[in-house]
Amino acid sequence: MFDISGRHALVTGGTSGIGAAIAAALSSAGCHVTAAGLPAAEGTGVPAPGVTTAALDVTDAASIDRLASGLSRLDILVNAAGIIRRSAEYDLETFAQVVDVNLTGTMRLCSACRPLLAEQGGSIVNVASMLTFFGAGLAPAYSASKGGIAQLTKSLAIAWAAEGIRVNAIAPGWIATPLTQALQDDPARSEAILSRTPMKRWGTPGDLAGSVIFLCSPAAAFVTGVVLPVDGGYLIS
Ligand code: NAI
Repeated sequence: MFDISGRHALVTGGTSGIGAAIAAALSSAGCHVTAAGLPAAEGTGVPAPGVTTAALDVTDAASIDRLASGLSRLDILVNAAGIIRRSAEYDLETFAQVVDVNLTGTMRLCSACRPLLAEQGGSIVNVASMLTFFGAGLAPAYSASKGGIAQLTKSLAIAWAAEGIRVNAIAPGWIATPLTQALQDDPARSEAILSRTPMKRWGTPGDLAGSVIFLCSPAAAFVTGVVLPVDGGYLIS
C-alpha cells in the first residue's frame, strides 16, 4: 500500500535541502522525478540518480507555464520552494517577496498542475513549518506565509477532492539545511532548539521523506487536508 513506483513527481525547491532529499526518496521509491529550483540556487548537493533537474522561479508565471507545459503526466506535486529573510521581514518589500515565494508560489504551482493531477487522481504535499503554529518575532512574513500554507492546504483539499486530488502538508521541525545554517552556527540558538526538542537532535532532510511517501501513497487514500508535524516532538513540548 506504500507502492508509488512508476508515478511522476515534481518537487519545487528540489535542488537543495529538504526538497532535494524528498526528490531523492521519491526516485528511490520508483518515481520519475523532476526537481525544480532557482537556476542559480546554491544547492547542497548533486541531484540523486534518476532525478531530472529543471529551472523554476515560483514567482514567475512564464517560468511555471514553461515547466508545466513540458510535463505529460503528473501524479505528485511537492511544494518545497521557500525562503526566509530573518530580521529583514519588517521591510514591506521583503515581506511581500517572502509571501510571494512561500505562499503565492505554492498556489501558483498547485493551480498550474491541477489539470494533470486531476487526470491521475494525484496528490499534493505542501511544506509548512513549525512557524505555521507559532509566531516569529524575527520572521513575520515567513510565519504568516507558513500559517497561510495550512489554510491553503485545507481549502484546496476541500475544493479539489471531487477531482480526486488530495492535498496535504508536512510541517518540518528544525532541519539542518542552508535555510537554517545561521541558527546551526549560533551555539545559543542551536542549544535552545535542541533543549526543547524531545528527540534532542536537529532533523535531517531525509527525516521528511517517509512522511511525504506515505501522504502520496495508496496508504493515505482517505487522508486529505492534514498538516503533519515531522519535528522530533518540538510542537508537543
Ligand atoms: P533550502 O534553502 O536548502 O532550499 C530552498 C529551495 O527553494 C532551493 O531549492 C531553492 O532553489 C528554492 N527556491 C527558493 N526561491 C525559489 C523561487 N523563487 N522559485 C523556485 N525555487 C525557489 O531550504 P530548505 O530548508 O530545504 O527549505 C525547503 C522548504 O522547507 C522551505 O519551504 C522551508 O520554508 C521549509 N522548512 C524548512 C525548515 C528547516 O528547518 N530547514 C523547517 C520548516 C520548513
